Amino acid sequence: MAIGAGLLLFVLLAAVAVRATAVPTQAGGVPLRDLAADHGIRIGAAANPYLLEKNREYRSLLGEQYGSLTAENVMKWDTVQPERGVYDFSHADALVDFAEKNGQKMRGHTLLWHNQNPEWLSDGDFGPDELRSIMHDHIRTVVGGHFKGRMYAWDVINEPFRDNGGELRRNLWLRTLGEGYIADALRTAHAADPDARLYINDFSIEGRNAKSDALYALAESLLEQGVPLHGIGFQSHLSVGDVPGDMVENMRRFTDLGLEVTITELDISIDMPAREAELRAQADDYRTVVRNCLKVSRCTGVTVWGVGDADSWIPSWFPGQGAALPFDQDYSPKLAFGALQEELSKAGIGGTPFSPDAAPSGPGAAPTGYGTPAQHD
Ligand code: XIL
Repeated sequence: MAIGAGLLLFVLLAAVAVRATAVPTQAGGVPLRDLAADHGIRIGAAANPYLLEKNREYRSLLGEQYGSLTAENVMKWDTVQPERGVYDFSHADALVDFAEKNGQKMRGHTLLWHNQNPEWLSDGDFGPDELRSIMHDHIRTVVGGHFKGRMYAWDVINEPFRDNGGELRRNLWLRTLGEGYIADALRTAHAADPDARLYINDFSIEGRNAKSDALYALAESLLEQGVPLHGIGFQSHLSVGDVPGDMVENMRRFTDLGLEVTITELDISIDMPAREAELRAQADDYRTVVRNCLKVSRCTGVTVWGVGDADSWIPSWFPGQGAALPFDQDYSPKLAFGALQEELSKAGIGGTPFSPDAAPSGPGAAPTGYGTPAQHD
């Protein structure tokens, strides 16, 4: 017995040592994607095909560290269907090809949203029948016709609630089709690719509040109607020091409904210039968010919204804030990266490891919001 256990320990330690030293990584140590896989979760990043092409550091970090990619922009409606009936998948395909070459899974982002729509759609003034058929055509072409089997999940509905509070956002879909647009889009996406996990994704829902309560009620009612909703995406655009204390409890109430949950767009902003103390606090926050996911069975993983501070959307959308990602302006690892690596290197910390491939089908910010002023709610 004792010899058997000793031998097992030796083999395990040897395996860890070999993995840690076998291939030198750009960031040093074992890639996050491998550490995360040991817990049955995925660590992902939002990605941009233009940077992939022109920046070597970006490209190698993206490939080595992350097991899942989300298109930061190029699967949004303005890129994919810039003119009515004219689809352009060239930018998105560059990303999907990279992911497939690097053994990475892809989350599709996003189908129905109030931002980054082409003018022909946002200013089209369509009646309900026409808008419904435009929506069906888009979902069938993108999810079924083009990407079928290549996206493991889709953010079907993005940011359906107003920036703050529990009311549905009066976006073009709600104004013309009423709130049934949500169930309709989910059903259409499910018919187009029955294997894809279908999500509602939103921000400022990480803790319990009026907005996450309203989302909970919506999710419950969709599931009661047998609508194919499989998961909730917690964007998690956070400010340093603001990880809600009740995040685990909040995510668990959604998984108790039979849903999976994913941290889909994590970044943690700092008021610039960032000082050492804030970078330390940020590292603690990154650690907490990953640990929170590990504590929730059926939390599938954590995606960060970009690779390094050089490519983050934060400074241009929230002037005065920045330094929000685990790598810096030069793609060197920050304390936050070390914290992620360390946290994921620990043995299990409770919660049942999620097994993405054995997932049952469901039974079935910025804290104060963001958005171009013209397109608010
Ligand atoms: C952001 C991108 O990062 C920016 O490059 C773009 O200018 C605006 O959109 N919620 C979402 C993401 O669901 O799609 C947004 O991405 C960030 C907030």
